[in-house]
Amino acid sequence: MNLENSNKDIILEAQDIHKTFKLGRSEIKVLRGVNCQIERGSWTTMLGASGSGKTTLLDIFGMLSTPDTGKLLFNGKNFAKPKRKEATLFRRHNVGFVFQSFHLFPELNVIENVTISQTFGFGLFSKNLRERGKALLNEVGLGHRLKHRPAELSGGERQRVAIARALINDPDIILADEPTGNLDTKTGLDILEIFQKLNNQQNSKTILLVTHDNYIAEMSDRVINLKDGVII
Ligand SMILES: Nc1ncnc2c1ncn2[C@@H]1O[C@H](COP(=O)(O)OP(=O)(O)OP(=O)(O)O)[C@@H](O)[C@H]1O
Ligand SMILES: [Mg+2]
Repeated sequence: MNLENSNKDIILEAQDIHKTFKLGRSEIKVLRGVNCQIERGSWTTMLGASGSGKTTLLDIFGMLSTPDTGKLLFNGKNFAKPKRKEATLFRRHNVGFVFQSFHLFPELNVIENVTISQTFGFGLFSKNLRERGKALLNEVGLGHRLKHRPAELSGGERQRVAIARALINDPDIILADEPTGNLDTKTGLDILEIFQKLNNQQNSKTILLVTHDNYIAEMSDRVINLKDGVII
């Protein structure tokens, strides 16, 4: 037994994860044995050069893709090769995603963007869901823009909508891939303040955030560096 880790509450863990992409005849070995533990309630920042595999690893953590070999443990259960439905359910119940380029539906308004993941397949847009979406939008300071389309919002406002959307399923963990990458410094800091609040509140969210900015790393509990396919 590893005594050092025995009393940590680990929510997500990678064990010896490998991932190679094949393009024609060439192979890109992106992840070459990644080991990493994410503690519940912590804020971890992942740094690494462009092309080092940060997004690849984050996608594996969020079960948007699967590793070639290795284990992915969520609350101690291995999900390295989940069935499609298992991965969908995992994401629906446990994870909130935030992306650099927001990924909002341009034809939907703000409140629809926030709640759509909960209506898929049912066509339900219940009063409860709407109220919950509104409350989350209030929390991120956008309660007054429910009917606006993304094109009518600034970058920072779009990212606020994306954060509210990420919270609609009350996830345990938020995976954010360069969430301030398309924003100016001031707006980026406003967005980081929201992450900080989520991380510090009662029932705090675990945050794993990819960035190129060192000042963000300084705000977090822990920094991990991805280099040459491993975490150093
Ligand atoms: N679906 C794919 N097919 C082929 N190669 C891929 C695929 N996805 C990623 N790669 C390659 O894997 C490497 C790592 O990509 P990844 O997007 O994970 O890097 P990153 O660290 O997120 O970079 P950045 O900081 O620029 O976002 C790159 O060389 C990329 O070209
Ligand atoms: Mg990336």
